[in-house]
Amino acid sequence: MTYENILTSTENGIGQITINRPSKLNALNVATIQELHDAFDAFDKNSEVKVIIITGEGEKAFVAGADISEFANFSIEEGAQLAAQGQELLFDFVENLKTPVIAAVNGFALGGGLELAMSCHFRVASDNAKMGLPEVSLGVIPGYGGTQRLPQLVGKGRAMELIMTAGMIDTETAKSYGLVNHVVPQTELLEFTKGIASKIMRNSPMAIGKAISAINANYKDGVNGFETEIKNFGKCFGTEDFREGTTAFLEKRKADFNGK
Ligand code: COA
Repeated sequence: MTYENILTSTENGIGQITINRPSKLNALNVATIQELHDAFDAFDKNSEVKVIIITGEGEKAFVAGADISEFANFSIEEGAQLAAQGQELLFDFVENLKTPVIAAVNGFALGGGLELAMSCHFRVASDNAKMGLPEVSLGVIPGYGGTQRLPQLVGKGRAMELIMTAGMIDTETAKSYGLVNHVVPQTELLEFTKGIASKIMRNSPMAIGKAISAINANYKDGVNGFETEIKNFGKCFGTEDFREGTTAFLEKRKADFNGK
């Protein structure tokens, strides 16, 4: 598939998506959100892709936010629809993929950019990155899940302060908050992230998908995470990956998982 606003590639089981609008600091317009949906969907359905990494083109920005020029004149209904469609197509979609998604945050991750990074299963940042949700400085609030995922990741008080001040934090602060797992020099960001991806790839894709679903269940309204864990745990016993994993252990060899 060819895209206008993103680049995709696959290598050694890793699907990489690069948002490619560097002249606009990779701002997320509606067309880019649709392309990202299509690319994530295609990678998730491709059994050769075991881990997805998303990053931004250039040295300056991961994503500097939703494209302000697109929504500046929106009505109340259009604003609500923008948030609803974006959440469904991209942010909730990414969070609930069965394939692990790592954000390699290579610069500014602001507004929708930080919301996209927070939708990913975890984050690695380059040391020049800056993160924040500056929406209230524009007279609006985060609309792509930021008011929900930021408190989940950093705690309510820190999220309140970050959102109310519209401020940016550096990566050391982001790491101390638990917003990013690792901080590395920009030149090492992709190799470092791929190194984590290669550790993930040694394990059962089926079990990883079920673990993502059980972890996410804790954050869903009306869903009991412990019950989801029990159900998903049980389902593993009917899979080829479980048979392979346990047999390989008993036979003292490396497991060769097929994800089924
Ligand atoms: N939407 C649309 N365009 C954006 C954008 C966004 N969120 N963020 C940056 N851009 C565009 C700028 O308009 C500029 O385009 P131009 O060259 O055609 O004028 C280009 O990207 C470069 O940005 P610029 O502001 O010149 O870079 P800078 O280094 O001076 O500042 C930022 C960098 C990130 C501090 C600044 O771009 C910024 O504050 N962006 C908006 C962040 C934001 O509020 N995001 C939340 C949106 S809900």
